[in-house]
Amino acid sequence: MIQVGTVAELRHWVGRWRRDELGVALVPTMGNLHRGHLELVRRARALADRVVVSLFVNPMQFGAGEDFEAYPRTLEQDQSLVETGGAQLLFAPAVPEVYPRPAGEQTRVEVPGLSNILCGASRPGHFVGVATVVCKLFNMVQPDIAVFGEKDFQQLLVLRRMVEDLGMAIRVVGAPTVREADGLALSSRNGYLSAEQRARAPALYRTLGETVAALQGGRRDFAELEREGAERLRQAGLKPDYLSIRRATDLGRATAGDLDLVVLGAAYLGRARLIDNLRVGPLDSPGARG
Ligand code: PAJ
Repeated sequence: MIQVGTVAELRHWVGRWRRDELGVALVPTMGNLHRGHLELVRRARALADRVVVSLFVNPMQFGAGEDFEAYPRTLEQDQSLVETGGAQLLFAPAVPEVYPRPAGEQTRVEVPGLSNILCGASRPGHFVGVATVVCKLFNMVQPDIAVFGEKDFQQLLVLRRMVEDLGMAIRVVGAPTVREADGLALSSRNGYLSAEQRARAPALYRTLGETVAALQGGRRDFAELEREGAERLRQAGLKPDYLSIRRATDLGRATAGDLDLVVLGAAYLGRARLIDNLRVGPLDSPGARG
């Protein structure tokens, strides 16, 4: 496996592949890799001849007081995982390589609407940071395909919209969420949990599942379902940020006629902010129920 830290070296290798007419896929990450990230690499390998994994803890997507400094950095372990995962190149730039200008002078990419709701409401500026860094990575690597996890469902939609709006010739592919045996979605931030908190954490997945089951059972009192879900999270010892039933296409609030829904949740547990989501649809239309 090749490892590079500069855009010049990256372009050298990707340029060679391009001349050989090989297809290139990119898997952007912030490192501290786990089986969820490896699933994205696996998917990328199935779709392209060459796979680039980027590893960059992006300061722009962390708010003041968030965990940028504490975010786990485990480069050596990540290198061997990327290698055994079968990627051909690891791009791990330092901050000035990605952001040569001071933060206030940096060009930004904003996807309005989608960026200000749900996680974006609690983390102002977060999705501008995500869209900006992913746009930069897309320009640096110029992949044909980029693979992202459905675990960060809002992020996936923000990035799909960015690609569409800016006319980028990149296919954005979503990969299913990888979970622990008890349902907890794998996340680099799970390492912040104490043993006692770890035992409580699956309540998020469980509650999303109960909400999905209620919707599949025909309930359409969305606001009440959201209240019940948030209450279940509180009873399990989590501090809910939101539990919300949304349209899967654009994250608009669900109405009774919508058939393709997603239930999204975010909750604080100790130092960790856990997020997860479950798709519901397609539901039977009300007229089709017997
Ligand atoms: P990070 O949290 O490292 O995640 C990198 C990719 O792995 C994202 O596409 C994310 O959705 C996916 N992922 C994380 N946990 C997963 C799981 N349990 N199952 C499946 N996929 C999972 O997301 C980011 O980094 C950053 O915002 C980034 C896109 C790299 C921009 O900085």
